[in-house]
Parts: sequence; C-alpha cells; structure tokens
Amino acid sequence: MDNIAPRKEDLEPIEIASRDEISALQFHRMKRTLKHAYENSPFYRQRFDEHGVHPEELKTLADIAKFPFTTKKDLRDTYPFGMFAVPREQIIRVHGSSGTTGKPTVVGYTKNDIDIWANLVARCIRASGGRPGDMVHIAYGYGLFTGGLGAHYGAERLGCTVVPISGGMTERQVTLMTDFQPRIIMVTPSYMLSILDEFRRQGLDPRKSSLKVGIFGAEPWTNAMREEIQDAFDMHAVDIYGLSEVMGPGVANECVETKDGLHVWEDHFYPEIINPETGEVLPDGEMGELVFTTITKEGLPMIRYRTRDLTRLLPGTARSMRRIEKITGRSDDMIILRGVNVFPTQIEEQILKCDGLSPHFQIELSRSGRMDNMTVHVEAAMNAASAEARAASAKELAHHIKSVVGVSTRIEVRDPDSMVRSEGKAKRVVDNRPKQ
Ligand code: DLL
Repeated sequence: MDNIAPRKEDLEPIEIASRDEISALQFHRMKRTLKHAYENSPFYRQRFDEHGVHPEELKTLADIAKFPFTTKKDLRDTYPFGMFAVPREQIIRVHGSSGTTGKPTVVGYTKNDIDIWANLVARCIRASGGRPGDMVHIAYGYGLFTGGLGAHYGAERLGCTVVPISGGMTERQVTLMTDFQPRIIMVTPSYMLSILDEFRRQGLDPRKSSLKVGIFGAEPWTNAMREEIQDAFDMHAVDIYGLSEVMGPGVANECVETKDGLHVWEDHFYPEIINPETGEVLPDGEMGELVFTTITKEGLPMIRYRTRDLTRLLPGTARSMRRIEKITGRSDDMIILRGVNVFPTQIEEQILKCDGLSPHFQIELSRSGRMDNMTVHVEAAMNAASAEARAASAKELAHHIKSVVGVSTRIEVRDPDSMVRSEGKAKRVVDNRPKQ
C-alpha cells in the first residue's frame, strides 16, 4: 500500500501544536463552556448547584473532576430538548440515537456546531489519507443517525465529491463503486464485510477496486479485522470514533501513517478516563471508561459525559493530541460468563485466526439450569464448508477462545452466506437468557 499521509503543511497548526498550547486553549474553552452551560441550561444550573460547584471553581483543567457527570439517562429524563443551552430556534438540526426504550435520545446543533463538526470530519478524512478532489462513497446510514450526514458534511468541507448512498441495497452499492470509482469509503466495518461478499458474488476482484482508504467506525472492531479488510481490498483501513451525544463521527480518528489508536481532537473535546465503578479519574495509560467534556459546543454542551466505552488514553504520536486505544467495547456489551468478562471484540479476534471461518458471527447467550452458556454462531469460509472442515474449525475456535479469553463456548459453524448481514451497526450479542 502506498504512503498516503497528508503533508505537514496541509495540517491545521493546532494538530501539531505543543502540549502547552493545546492545554491553554482547552482551559480557555472549558471555562467558557462551563459558564455557558451554567447560565443557559437550567439542567446544568440545577445540577451544578446541587453539587455545590460553580464554573468559577475551574482553576486548572484537572478541576473538571469537581463537576458532576452527565449520562444518557439525563438526556432521556429531559427528552426531547430539555438540556439544550440555546433557544430551540437557534438549533438548525437535530439527530438522535435509537434507545432500547423506543424513544431516541435527541441532540441538537447550532449553525456553529454544524460548522465545527464539518471541519472536524474533514480533519478526520485528511488524517485517513483523503484529500480535496477525492470521491467519497458514504454508506453510513443517513437520517437521525449521525453517521451519514456527519460524514457527508465533512467530505464536502474537505472538497471531495460525495456519493451519499447511505446503507443497504448492497448490490447497487457495488455497481456504483465500479462505475464511479471512489477512492474513499466511509462505512461500518461490519457492513464493509457485506460489501466484500458482494464484490466476490459479482465475480469482481476487490483488490482491483478503486478504493484506497476505508474510514470505519460506529462499532467496535479489532486490528485483526483491519488486516482482513486491508488485505481483501488492498486498501488502508482507518478507525473513526464518535457518539451523537458528544457530536457524532469525528471526535477521534486514526492517522493513516501510524494506525496506532485514535487521536482525540482535543481542541474541541476534553477526554478523561475514569474507574466506572467509583467515578475516580485514572491516570493516562490506565484502562477505564471514557468521559468527554465538549469545549466548543453551543447547542448541547456536554459536561463530563460518560460514554460507557472502555479504552485508555495514550500520548500523541503522529499528532500532538492524545490518542485513545482502539475501543475494546462498551461496558453495556460486556458479557460476564461464569465470572469471566468477555467482549465481542475478543471473540472476533479469535475467529479471524481461523482460516476455515468467515468474519460473520453472532454470540448467543442462553441458560440451562443455573448455568449460562455462550454459543458462537459463525459462518464457514467458502472453501472450508465440508462437514470435516467445519468440525475442525469449530474445534480450533473453541480452543483459541478457551486458551486466550478463558471461557468454554459452544461453536456453531454455519453454511457460508447463511447469517443475516449487517447494513449498519452489527448486532453481536443475542441474549436469550430468561430475564431475572
Ligand atoms: O456511531 C457515530 C459514528 C458514526 C461514529 C459513524 C463513527 C462513524 P452513536 O450511534 O451515538 O454514534 O453511537 C456511539 O458507537 O459510544 C461507541 O460505543 C460506538 N462507536 C462509535 N465509533 C466507534 C469506534 C455513532 N470507532 C457509540 N470503535 C459509541 C468502537 C465505536 N466503537
């Protein structure tokens, strides 16, 4: 693969500024954000008052730890617009994420917020190896989900030609890619695998496609999956992270030259890692729950928002801004099986070690008596679908999972092409255990 890193002169100065400059900017912006939230959002005023803190008490960046956390529940409790810090008329767009309760959590953006978001996604695309004039195929869903429109505005801002295809209709996606020849694709990694299958189904060699860069996010994926996709398409696969509550895609992104974790755009978001049980702030390098304070958002400032995503903070490399390690998973997705913590990403990693298996999988949890059981449903690779090959793959996978993850699992190796394909975020876990 070619070296496609952006030239230094194409970066924004803040991306490679000194840590002192970044911290000074963060402090100034954080102070302004706390004041704005306190003065303009009755929700935050009440919350800060209850905790006996005032924006004036922020004397250093670390003082943010004196302020209370914000959670998804707060957004639900104030549904739909109760946390906004500007009059509703100044909100030019809303997005939402689908909740388990049926009602989405709603977020809102001022004109300025949308503008900053577009700039940051443009920065992400550039860090991924994109440049003005590139054609970008956007297969993230358009709609209330932030993926499609977030990517769209960023690609336009960078000066790209956008193909706003959204998710689904995979056959047509591949036809249009063949006809239009995009250099970049933005899509969830699991949907990229469906697109890969479709290339093969149509008898096309994915390595000969026009794609040079994939910007993948919205769900956890592993370095093993990166290798799989890079190898299949002969392209760079780069990780993009974000969440609607904090903005949408583009809160953090990898750099194509290092692919060593995602640089948090610290000029707009202040990250912390906390112990999810106690709420205590952990030092950089330690694993815990990622928490964000937005420091430029107007419409819906987020003070110490608990993401539930588990990772650690690492020093900058290709850019001065700190990195987060590839997300292991959400604390909500953690399976506790007979006392052992298991994340779907750990299973993905083991599946990708087995030549006889495809990367399409789903984990089923069930209960027999008082025992919880985990079954991994996974498809056989096309060239390993015989009964003997499947039995061997099942045995191999069970062995890897037992020795690396530490749990005994049942493995169901299914026919190639028999499992439901993801068109957006993959549903990795089906919990069939009776509700307690
Ligand atoms: O998924 C925003 C997004 C769209 C990000 C497109 C990247 C690309 P939500 O629907 O609010 O927003 O879901 C946010 O998705 O808290 C993580 O658990 C997960 N997530 C997002 N990006 C990544 C990633 C969008 N790169 C939730 N790796 C987050 C792992 C991710 N998990």
